[in-house]
Amino acid sequence: MSSSPSKGAKAPIRVCFVCLGNICRSPTAEATFVRAVKDAGLSDAFVIDSAGTGGWHEGERADARSRAAAARRGIDVTSIARKWRAGDFDRFDYVLAMDRQNRADLVALAPTDAARAKVELFRIHDPGAAPDAEVPDPYYGGEDGFDHVLDLCEAASRGLLATLKKRHDL
Ligand code: 4NP
Repeated sequence: MSSSPSKGAKAPIRVCFVCLGNICRSPTAEATFVRAVKDAGLSDAFVIDSAGTGGWHEGERADARSRAAAARRGIDVTSIARKWRAGDFDRFDYVLAMDRQNRADLVALAPTDAARAKVELFRIHDPGAAPDAEVPDPYYGGEDGFDHVLDLCEAASRGLLATLKKRHDL
């Protein structure tokens, strides 16, 4: 968790970013959204986390290439990898999938229609992106893939924050 509510505030909006390994894309999305929220002075209004549909990297820090690319922009990637758990559907209001496979895996795991309705593609919040646009997996590619992921996550984070500010009257 990268943010916590303060006493007396209204219930925080709980957001979780999900990819496959939770070491590249979703930690980057978490970090860029944390930054956008902090810059807007709204840290107390959110609980922000990330997870992976796979558990191979559980307990690991984010990929060094993701951390380095973010650090070049002054963004801290702090998450420790973990696997998405069934109970997470109760713990989060918004479940943002990085790609269509992540979304399909989450939808298959959702125990109820209400849980299923929480799952959407992250980039749907980027007004400049196509409705089914993905954050592509940079894991097996070169360094520029990690910069590209950051570009996409920064744009979608700005859009997501704008959407949630409006929807929740922040
Ligand atoms: P991520 O990237 O889903 O963006 O964290 C990956 C990281 C690791 C693996 C696949 C994708 N892997 O197969 O180990």
